[in-house]
Amino acid sequence: MDILTAKRIAVVTGANKGIGLEIVRQLAFNGVMVILTARNEKRGAEAVEKLIKSGVSDVVFHQLDVADPASVASLSEFIKTKFERVDILVNNAGVASLEIDSEVLDSLDGDDTEVNNDDYSAIHQEFDSVVLKELGSNDQQSGGSRFLKVLAAGKETYEKAKECLDINFYGTKRVTEALIPLLQLSNQPRIVNVSSIHGQLQYIPNESIQKQFDDVNDPKEEIKLDEILQKFLNDMQENKLEENGWPTFGSAYKVSKAAMNTYTRILAKRYPSMCINSVHPGYVKTDITWNSGILTVEEGASYPVILALLPDGSPSGLFYDKMEVISF
Ligand SMILES: NC(=O)c1ccc[n+]([C@@H]2O[C@H](COP(=O)([O-])OP(=O)(O)OC[C@H]3O[C@@H](n4cnc5c(N)ncnc54)[C@H](OP(=O)(O)O)[C@@H]3O)[C@@H](O)[C@H]2O)c1
Repeated sequence: MDILTAKRIAVVTGANKGIGLEIVRQLAFNGVMVILTARNEKRGAEAVEKLIKSGVSDVVFHQLDVADPASVASLSEFIKTKFERVDILVNNAGVASLEIDSEVLDSLDGDDTEVNNDDYSAIHQEFDSVVLKELGSNDQQSGGSRFLKVLAAGKETYEKAKECLDINFYGTKRVTEALIPLLQLSNQPRIVNVSSIHGQLQYIPNESIQKQFDDVNDPKEEIKLDEILQKFLNDMQENKLEENGWPTFGSAYKVSKAAMNTYTRILAKRYPSMCINSVHPGYVKTDITWNSGILTVEEGASYPVILALLPDGSPSGLFYDKMEVISF
């Protein structure tokens, strides 16, 4: 057997920077052969070069835009030819659904006084319930207020929302479906979906929508997911998010991660011999949070890595907030 195929083989999506890049580094450090993927060839190749220069071996690059079916097919073909199987898939690629107006953000950053208009306090309420509980009291001053400013400078357009669903949820589904046949050839198949606490169903005010996401016993659940997401996009286009009980801030991001979590549960039921879990990596300092996070990428990446390396017989179909199991 080839020395490379004797090792476990992992694929990490969206790995040219942030948590994904660090997941690659930590997996490689643990003796895994990693296929670092990125949508941009140059950024991906540079990331691999940087890792290799820092002493990490057994990392190869392959282009992957999770929003592009041809790119997904090309990755699957590459792996089939070169490695013949996959042991670990980390669906990490993701985008926020907010467009940040950097001029507004700069002006808020330069202003030490708390913004206290109505919009801001609505954001504050939303943010309080979702993220502040993660922050220690000292961090609430720095990370917390910076993130509020990012939210205050952000707006969610229909196009951005559509892109967010297409990358965060449908991208995960596309890559997973393409690689399942290769994961089925593994002795220890693992799928880790890098989700977010923002995707918890409790943040969707409409209980009937919550129930639809939660009903993983329905064999048609996957089709239903498409219907729920289409309804969300229609409501967004018609300005009916609040009226119909969808989240109102970063709504597409939350809905995309809720869908990802439902998909985790569907897959775990469908493939009982695999370990398939969702994980919230914590509130991490990366580009997606405009570097407002409180955890380092090293810490944020460590939780998906633990789940990627779970021993046989470990639980599947769960949602972890870092290492604590939480409700969907
Ligand atoms: N940071 C946090 O606090 C936090 C909290 C909860 C969950 N998460 C999740 O953690 C994951 C990683 O985020 P991060 O914090 O590391 O943010 P990040 O630094 O912005 O990294 C996001 C990565 O996803 C890639 N990506 C975006 N669209 C893609 C596509 N169509 N195909 C392939 N790759 C694509 C980006 O590539 P480009 O460089 O080409 O844009 C980048 O490599 C995301 O799923 C995010 O939702 C993060």
